[in-house]
Amino acid sequence: MKRYLIAGNWKMNKTTGEAIELAQKLVESLKDVNDRDILICPPFTALYSVYQVIKGTNIKLGAQDVFYENSGAFTGEISPIMLKDVGCEYVIIGHSERRHIIGETDELINKKIKAAINNGLKTILCVGELLEEREAGKTLEVVKTQIEKGLNGVSKEEMKNVVIAYEPVWAIGTGKTAKPEDAQEVHAYIRELLSKLYSKEIADETIIQYGGSVKASNIDSLMAMPDIDGALVGGASLVAEEFTRIVKFIKQ
Ligand code: 13P
Repeated sequence: MKRYLIAGNWKMNKTTGEAIELAQKLVESLKDVNDRDILICPPFTALYSVYQVIKGTNIKLGAQDVFYENSGAFTGEISPIMLKDVGCEYVIIGHSERRHIIGETDELINKKIKAAINNGLKTILCVGELLEEREAGKTLEVVKTQIEKGLNGVSKEEMKNVVIAYEPVWAIGTGKTAKPEDAQEVHAYIRELLSKLYSKEIADETIIQYGGSVKASNIDSLMAMPDIDGALVGGASLVAEEFTRIVKFIKQ
């Protein structure tokens, strides 16, 4: 049976002190949850301190981005080795905010994915369409290109370390969640695509998360969909009580 992966992407929020406080609350409120994987992704500056709080617990650590070289003259960048050094098990790659605000391309994202996997990190590849692409009926085409290019050269064996997060850009931070049935349609398409690119077995085993205005009030209807295997939560992961309800699928 596949385990749900519920992840909090804290984005550019929380000072070190605030991050430690949030992590401490989550360690306490989530300590009894054993039937799903829980991940938090603080900003780089808080990774080390948060790891000191969560190590040995059921909460895993992830980063929000990574560079594709291990060391060298790359001012401002952080390498996969550095992420592992501070306790990261996962890294988010190709988030829509990095694609659309920073200008990351599928080619750059692909290099980051390969470097992260080569260094033993689990990667969450984010894909998703803009509102105008959805309105033009291009959702599946956009997602297909992002996945094919993002995973270019990633082997069957390496797919064990890949999670896909479908995050429609129009649903991120807007309060507009995709209808569970609409998200399901894209998730099923992604699984079919993975089946063609790799194998049915790999497609079935790959975790496909949904992201975009996930809250306690909509988590259970999204997770009830057959091809939605978890959530990548932004704003609602910044408040311990709300993220706890999301992890536990407690609608309030
Ligand atoms: P929100 O949950 O704030 O919409 O953000 C989703 C997201 O981008 C998670 O990576």
